[in-house]
Amino acid sequence: MIIICQRCMTRFHLDDDATDKSTFVARCTVCGHLFSAYKPNRVQEITFLDLEKARHDKTDDRVIAVSNRKGGVAKTTTCLNLGVSLTLLKKRVLLVDFDAQANLTLALGQKESPTFYDAQKEIGKGLDAFIVPTKYPNLRLLPSGRNMVLLNKKYFGAGNFEYMLKDRLNTVTEQFDFILIDTPPSIEYYTLNALTASNRVLIPCQCDYLSTHGVDQVLRLIRLIREKSNPHIQSRILFTMLDRNSQASRLILQKIQSFYQGKTFETVIEMDGVLKEAQILNMPAIQYSPKSTAGTQYLELAKEVVAFTESSMLPAP
Ligand SMILES: Nc1ncnc2c1ncn2[C@@H]1O[C@H](COP(=O)(O)OP(=O)(O)OP(=O)(O)O)[C@@H](O)[C@H]1O
Ligand SMILES: [Mg+2]
Repeated sequence: MIIICQRCMTRFHLDDDATDKSTFVARCTVCGHLFSAYKPNRVQEITFLDLEKARHDKTDDRVIAVSNRKGGVAKTTTCLNLGVSLTLLKKRVLLVDFDAQANLTLALGQKESPTFYDAQKEIGKGLDAFIVPTKYPNLRLLPSGRNMVLLNKKYFGAGNFEYMLKDRLNTVTEQFDFILIDTPPSIEYYTLNALTASNRVLIPCQCDYLSTHGVDQVLRLIRLIREKSNPHIQSRILFTMLDRNSQASRLILQKIQSFYQGKTFETVIEMDGVLKEAQILNMPAIQYSPKSTAGTQYLELAKEVVAFTESSMLPAP
């Protein structure tokens, strides 16, 4: 079996018989990190050998992961509001809820739908069969649900496991102009798959002191992913929940903007109660209140995201 250190991503080959426990604690001999490891299930519904092909397939500029190890920084809010805003720019969008919390699925009012886990169990069926329409034209969803936790339990650490999402998404990419992947505030199976499948990463960063550390951690992870599984990955930071009345909030924005110059979106999402009101009705801000601060800022962001993805089509200098 292969186990992977969640901090430095070094892979270790461990004899299958080294332990009979399904979960055990391991210490990385490279960086010293202590972490829980899972023994992958022997009965695998997919052949990991097939994933060898996905390893070499190109990742697509249209695929964007929304990721930050810090929780509550507006990853899910950004997926929903950016996704709907992109459809208003006449783009066909797929939202992938790749978080077992299933917040994005709930935010779209979707219940009890089949998930990516179900898709992996029925590998003979196209991914299309698991993608559902939403109440918004041109916006479709690959839902999450309770059984998504099993992906981590069963597959994390198995050979080529981080290519599972890329392998399946590659079969539907042509149907969409953008694919946005919502990720959980942890690394493990979900974030490693999402970052391996995406050419772009949008990193939401709340304008508070602790969030700046989350950005640092995710940028470090992206560098590792670039070296190990996805050489084309590029990232950009999005500032969220800015409180213009708070001097601390403005100061942090200024500091990070100058530190990460050229790697941040110009659009900044301000604190806006409309987002919480809209959430109660399972709506994005732009539909609930089109002229609201959040609604207009997410639409501006959508325009920037289009430019960000098209920038790679310029010839390299
Ligand atoms: N600009 C904003 N103004 C006010 N509230 C916001 C804003 N953005 C997000 N929120 C609220 O902050 C909370 C956390 O947002 P969200 O669930 O999108 O974060 P997350 O990063 O996806 O969290 P997790 O790490 O748990 O997945 C939600 O209640 C959301 O409505
Ligand atoms: Mg979330």
